[in-house]
Formats: sequence, C-alpha cells, structure tokens
Amino acid sequence: SRVAVLMGGPSAEREVSLSSGRECANALREAGFQVIEVDAGPDLAARLQDLRPDVVFNALHGRWGEDGCVQGLLEWLRIPYTHSGVLASALAMDKQRTKDVFRAAGLPVVDSVLASREEVSQSHVLPPPYVVKPNNEGSSVGVYIVRPGSNAPRLAATMPAMVMVETYAPGREMTCTVMGDRALAVTDIITSGWYDYEAKYSVGGSRHEVPANIPAEIEAACKDYALRAHKALGCRGLSRTDFRWDESRGLTGLILLETNTQPGMTPTSLAPEQAAYCGMSFPELCRWIVEDASC
Ligand code: DAL
Ligand code: MG
Repeated sequence: SRVAVLMGGPSAEREVSLSSGRECANALREAGFQVIEVDAGPDLAARLQDLRPDVVFNALHGRWGEDGCVQGLLEWLRIPYTHSGVLASALAMDKQRTKDVFRAAGLPVVDSVLASREEVSQSHVLPPPYVVKPNNEGSSVGVYIVRPGSNAPRLAATMPAMVMVETYAPGREMTCTVMGDRALAVTDIITSGWYDYEAKYSVGGSRHEVPANIPAEIEAACKDYALRAHKALGCRGLSRTDFRWDESRGLTGLILLETNTQPGMTPTSLAPEQAAYCGMSFPELCRWIVEDASC
C-alpha cells in the first residue's frame, strides 16, 4: 500500500522530525511499502487530498504534529494514520495536564505549577532546585534548571507566555517504550551532564544501557507504569514514557516525567533500540506501526 510519511513541520523539533522521517521512509521501503515523503507545510491538507495515501505515517514531533492538530486534520480527511489520536496527543503534549491524568491514575509524579514568564523571572515559584520548561515542547528545547542558591532564571523572550515549573527530580534518567499492549524494555540513559538536545541527538552524546542494570522490582515498575500511562492517556500504537529514578529511595524514588506519543525514530533514538533488543528490526517496527494505523 501507499504510505505518506509526514515529517519536518514548523515545530522547534523540525530537524529531529526530518531525521525520524527519513529513517522511517527508508525502513518502510525496505519493508516493501510504496513511500511518499511529505514535509508538512501550510498546504498539507491540499497535498494529502491530492496524494490520497492509504496510510499516513506520522513522523512529526512537537507542536502541530504531536499535539492533536495534524491528527484532527487526518480525521477530517478520513485518512488512517499512525500513533495516537487527537485527545491522547493533545493531553500528552501538555505536560501539566499529563501530570493530572497520571495522578488520577495513581502514577507517581513531582509537584509542578503553570506560571507566566514574568512570574518565573521575578522570583522563585517553587523552592529550588526546580526545572522550567515550555509546557508543550519536546527534546529538552527551552529547559532551565534552577539550582539552590541561584537567582530566578531570566527566561528567553522565545519562551512561551506560560511555562511549567516542576520540582527537580534527582536520579537516573530512564525510559520505557510501549508497543500496543506490550512494554518493550527499560533503558538507562547515561550522560556526563544533562540529557539535553545535544546529548540526545549527537552520536556518542549519551550511552544507552538496554536493558537497564537495575533491580528487577524497578524494571517491573517502569514497565507497569509505562503501560498504565499509555492507557490512562488513551494512546495508540507506539509511545515512550520517561522516568527519573533516585536509587537511594528505592521504589518511592521512581517518578514519571512524561509520555511521548511520537517517540523519536532517529539513529540515536531510544524506541528503535528497545525494539531491536526485543528482536524486532527497524523495518519490522515501522511495518507494525503502519499496520496499527486507524482513523
Ligand atoms: N521528543 C522526542 C522526539 C522524543 O521524545 O523522542
Ligand atoms: Mg518529550
């Protein structure tokens, strides 16, 4: 069948998405699909009406592509598409509302508040250490860490008017991919500093240990939490939930940061690595994603 791979788009994660999109397009060709690569611009609706693909493979990240907007357009055009639908995408892209859903599902999260750029720049909104992030971006774009003893951060003018401020959760950075009703594996992400944009996308920017060298109880909890997060948000297909684990506190030191409904599919990304660990090649993973598409 004919698959249109949507990539690029206008979000802050455009470059990441172009990389995910190219990788997925190549893998789908290898898996025997006829593939059209589409850089998602303002003419997307007209292009899709022209192309009339059997399935849209959504390889967009960030605003408009991961937050329910493009999903709404695809529903409107009645074209089956991959990954989560409108509501789950919109919820998961909103970090504050994601936490509300997690709390309601009994999943552990740290305290956070939404505050205006001015409030955050004037004084500490939470006791340091804390983290300031756009409420709706990914890939650590625009993330500030405020340490004890430092002043309130001077936020860049490019930050959104409202931002999320959350208590800093110390510990190891871990992640778990969900494929349908199956949690694949837990990866321990080892960086020399903060797992920022640079560490995420440069080759050798971080080391991924899969499976993570952690106690069986913590591994089981990560998988259970990732599945429950996927279900609580109403996700479809592939998702990836990110964790922090403060090992000095045992199971109570494990918290969920967020769920990504469009996990990265670049050469340094985590979900394809976990699939490979489970014995699934990248083309097989992409084929599964296409076969799971609906609208
Ligand atoms: N936001 C990036 C693409 C990820 O979560 O993998
Ligand atoms: Mg993210």
